[in-house]
Amino acid sequence: MKHIISPTDLTVSELNELLDLSEEIIANPRKFSDVCRGKKLATLFYEPSTRTRLSFEAAMLNLGGSVLGFSSADSSSAAKGESVADTIRVVSSYADICAIRHPKEGAPYVASLYSSIPVINAGDGGHNHPTQTFTDLLTIKNLKGRLNNLCVGFCGDLKFGRTVHSLINALARYENISFILISPEELRVPEYIRKEVLEANNIQFEETTSLENAMPKLDILYMTRVQRERFFNEEDYIRLKDIYILDEKKMAAARTDMLVLHPLPRVNEIATEVDSDPRAVYFKQAQYGVYVRMALIMKLLEIV
Ligand code: CP
Repeated sequence: MKHIISPTDLTVSELNELLDLSEEIIANPRKFSDVCRGKKLATLFYEPSTRTRLSFEAAMLNLGGSVLGFSSADSSSAAKGESVADTIRVVSSYADICAIRHPKEGAPYVASLYSSIPVINAGDGGHNHPTQTFTDLLTIKNLKGRLNNLCVGFCGDLKFGRTVHSLINALARYENISFILISPEELRVPEYIRKEVLEANNIQFEETTSLENAMPKLDILYMTRVQRERFFNEEDYIRLKDIYILDEKKMAAARTDMLVLHPLPRVNEIATEVDSDPRAVYFKQAQYGVYVRMALIMKLLEIV
């Protein structure tokens, strides 16, 4: 049985198959409308979510299956002190596959050790968010036409941003990828990403504090939110939260075919005036999340 804890749990070849299947679903969704009849997806969310939980549920419903689960730790027996290990043992007898989000890094991995159904990490603390990465890759492949020969800028909270860590890990496996890492000093990418992913694989990257200087060089700009929930100190959050705001003026310096992605939710880091720019694809990106999760559910349940 396969679990998806990290984006690199799929080989590049498996990932390409997943993206091809996602594109087949986009082209012909009716073909897949009944393939999961009788199957159940459990969504175990110990941390808030709109897109990930609802797109997982929409994905299973689109495949003709059913969903069950909880949307906060407070509404589950975690509030009474039940461990993730015990919860997944029980849920394994209620559902065929499960997506779990947890504020503690490694919790979905622990669940996978005790599970008799496939476990998908739907985001663990500041660590990984593999299905967001698959969504991002599908967005780039579908709208840009390639996953190689790209200069990708990440901007904002690169320290705690699990979507950033996951996407760097995944893109580093494609040819001729370079990164521009745009953040304040306090929110630079963690040392392990720099050493074990970027330097270990000879990936070209630069770190800067200037979004303006990076703009003209980018094929993709991946904006991120400064995450209040990851800060220990409210003063630091307030000081850093509006440090980067993408607006029309900054967009004017970008290439005409640059794409702006954002995993969402957005707070202030992208001015709403950018939403109508054809290069702003973050709402389309959220829609792609349904297709890629449909494909992933089918692959893990060995339906295709
Ligand atoms: N992108 C993302 O994970 O969004 P949610 O927190 O709303 O699930």
